[in-house]
Amino acid sequence: MNHTTTIQHPGEDKSNDLRQRVARTEPLAQRTYTSSLALLDKSAGSYHWTPEGRKLADFSSGVLVANLGHNPTRWWKRVFDYLGVSNLDESQEYTVAAPLTAYNAVSSLEVRANERLLANMQAAPGGRRMEQVLWAASGSEAVQKALWACLAHDKKRSVIVATRGGFHGKKGLAGAVTGSETDKERDPRVKFVSFPKVECAEVELRKQPLDLEPYQQELEKLSNEVGDRLSCLITEPYLGGGGSYHPQPEYLQLLQKFCRDHGAAFILDEIQANFGRTGPMYAYTHYGVEPDIVCLGKGLGNGVPVAAAVGRADIFQALHYGEGSDTWSANPLSCAAVLATLDEFESTDVLARGQALAPIIEEGLLRLKSTGVIEKVRGEGCVWGIECAACGSHEPEEVANAVVEACYLGDQQGRAIHLLGPLAGKVIRISPPLTMQPDELREYLDAMHGILASLRLKLR
Ligand SMILES: Cc1ncc(COP(=O)(O)O)c(C=O)c1O
Repeated sequence: MNHTTTIQHPGEDKSNDLRQRVARTEPLAQRTYTSSLALLDKSAGSYHWTPEGRKLADFSSGVLVANLGHNPTRWWKRVFDYLGVSNLDESQEYTVAAPLTAYNAVSSLEVRANERLLANMQAAPGGRRMEQVLWAASGSEAVQKALWACLAHDKKRSVIVATRGGFHGKKGLAGAVTGSETDKERDPRVKFVSFPKVECAEVELRKQPLDLEPYQQELEKLSNEVGDRLSCLITEPYLGGGGSYHPQPEYLQLLQKFCRDHGAAFILDEIQANFGRTGPMYAYTHYGVEPDIVCLGKGLGNGVPVAAAVGRADIFQALHYGEGSDTWSANPLSCAAVLATLDEFESTDVLARGQALAPIIEEGLLRLKSTGVIEKVRGEGCVWGIECAACGSHEPEEVANAVVEACYLGDQQGRAIHLLGPLAGKVIRISPPLTMQPDELREYLDAMHGILASLRLKLR
């Protein structure tokens, strides 16, 4: 795979021109690798359109962001209404509306977003500790702020525990709790414990009860090593970026009990799981846990950048003036987007619609195994991973990139699918908007089956 050559696809003059121009004007580091490098010109609901006008069904929701679909009209209207810009009068040089920046001040949208988000989280089973919101401009920052608060809460406790193979972001402490001890130069404050990957390597295995004994032993060993220096433990409801491993709920319950027994904070990173992705509004509900801090992001603003750490006031209050502040956190546009997204989730049946898609996705993905291209299927709700097999002389990683490209180019009937580049080398994420129409989802899963079957014949 040559990552330095600009990707070009036949018959896409406009897209190819834009691909070349972006390659000249941005470094490669701006995006993760993908074999399709789709040019997304317009989007509505569960679809994108390329500059050539080719329609792509979106099996990614951005990157688990557009849970309500792309550009929902009523949602946009709500965002504009909250900001007070619904009826712009161009004869006026300026419009009296919500400020776009309220740095070092407070906007009423921020207060309303705090209250609405807390009420929504507290109403979900497991949300009792959701007392304050510490806003952030990205998921990594929300994780960083949550960890800062825990370390400040009791300065004698300096050890952070993370679950091996997780993804919490790339920057600062979020990067330090990502991956494992062998990846790179590590922050000595971070210790890793095992996440059950083998026991939930396939959707069927996850239905078996988990033998907690080895995990318990590992935690006990860690506790003997670090004693009362344990500050907090951070984990994800499921390993997302780490390759789609969805654990049995008793595993997260064990981690929570360990935290409670040792006076450490239990942080659940729901940045990609929140707002209905796994079925309920928050994953903590069906995993049967009550976290001290929950990190939110992605679907929280349905496309407007916003993230937050939400949780115990006594922990957050350990941070002093300015220690959790920056230019964009709690900005009014983001708060308007959070309010509009909450409105949609609270006043429509979007959660039930997402839940109804889960069996359709599961069935459609399990059927892909018959093509020989897909080896394993894992997931829940509207977030799934398909692990590619080796085909002929092609390694699973190569096959995964070929799948992404083949789905992008589509079938004879012009049905094409937007997928993200593979995770953990060979796992492709399937995460359509919660609002995709069931018939359309079935149709595109069928199309995917045909595309993969044809691809298998080419992979010798
Ligand atoms: C679970 C989880 N935590 C944190 C992050 C980091 O979020 P961001 O990319 O907004 O920094 C991600 C992003 O994929 C994520 O999936």
